[in-house]
Amino acid sequence: MKKRIAILPGDGIGPEVCESATQVLTEIGRLYNHEFEFVYGDLGGVAIDKTGSPLPEETLSICKQSDAVLLGAVGGPKWETLPGHQRPEQGLLGLRKQLELFANLRPVTIYDSLAEASPLKNEVIEGVDLLILRELTGGIYFGEPRERRGEGEQETAVDTLVYSRSEIERIVRKGFEFAKERRGQLTSVDKANVLESSRLWREIVDEVAGDYPEVSYSHMLVDNAAMQLIRNPRQFDVMVTENMFGDILSDEASMITGSLGMLPSASMSQDGPGLFEPIHGSAPDIAGKGIANPLATLSSLTMMLTFAFKMPNEAAALQDAIDDVLEKGYRTADLTSDSSKALSTVEMTAKVIEALGEKVVTA
Ligand code: NAD
Ligand code: IPM
Ligand code: MN
Repeated sequence: MKKRIAILPGDGIGPEVCESATQVLTEIGRLYNHEFEFVYGDLGGVAIDKTGSPLPEETLSICKQSDAVLLGAVGGPKWETLPGHQRPEQGLLGLRKQLELFANLRPVTIYDSLAEASPLKNEVIEGVDLLILRELTGGIYFGEPRERRGEGEQETAVDTLVYSRSEIERIVRKGFEFAKERRGQLTSVDKANVLESSRLWREIVDEVAGDYPEVSYSHMLVDNAAMQLIRNPRQFDVMVTENMFGDILSDEASMITGSLGMLPSASMSQDGPGLFEPIHGSAPDIAGKGIANPLATLSSLTMMLTFAFKMPNEAAALQDAIDDVLEKGYRTADLTSDSSKALSTVEMTAKVIEALGEKVVTA
């Protein structure tokens, strides 16, 4: 089956982890007889340098004409002094908005073999399997006005946190749907003790809950949720929350697994192409060194194979291959304190490809 994938490597370690992903996908195509066509586009800083825009029209059209989009990461010190609307991150936000990717899935799963990589105690993280469902196209990231006013001592800066009933309802409904398919438990995270938008959010959760009697749900304030994620992450099944809370909580949750370099994500719309990307950024501190962990991006590929291409066997094989390399003790630098044992991005990718081959031979 032929699939067309838009590849947006972006900045920093983005191209390094995307190279890993295209190699792995090519190998999956070879082993399972699929044709994966890659179409490359510029997004973020690299696009600013080439075209002046963080999201060139051509990139948007490549994405719209694809079956799925794979993104590395955008941003970096080079572009930090640009005005807000011209920054690399604006390219990513624009893409999410244009493709209407309102539902961002950020699963947090534990690899037994990685227990020692987490700063949390083994008994705290054992068996953790949660899904952070982040609203991705609304809230304070997109609200208007967003501006500076006045000057000097009088200067103020304004961001706007606004959510409509329909924006909240569609993501909350997804939360209940996922919970129904999983362990039947939904935690809605908000700040209803302070924010009006959270009070509307809470009302809608209570209303939608009526359609899902099989799901047990609760509300939790975001500050408490941040603490509970570390105290007892096993209590969570699906956590649904607004854009910025989901951004922050998912980076925090990555440390349950052991590294930000492990957490994948899938961003979905009602019916257009999905976008798959690691939750981490462009990691300027390690960019160009060839030591980035590619596993978050490769796990994002398993989500692409599952959700975009409906290829469960291929997704399972890739997940098994990732499990295998970790069980065999292969680690990138972020996952081990013994730097002499750390594999490069290229070496880790080769191990995953090797493990994929073993799956097919023994199947
Ligand atoms: P970051 O996620 O880039 O890095 C945070 C820390 O985690 C760094 O020490 C980094 O080396 C480490 N890290 C991240 N990914 C890793 C990997 N795969 N392997 C090993 N270590 C890894 O966050 P930051 O430093 O706050 O942001 C840097 C830039 O990235 C900023 O411009 C930010 O806007 C951007 N960013 C982009 C995305 C995205 O494109 N989706 C996400 C987050 C941040
Ligand atoms: C993420 C990133 C982005 C976000 C930035 C780069 C705009 O942190 O994907 O988690 O805040 O959504
Ligand atoms: Mn983030």
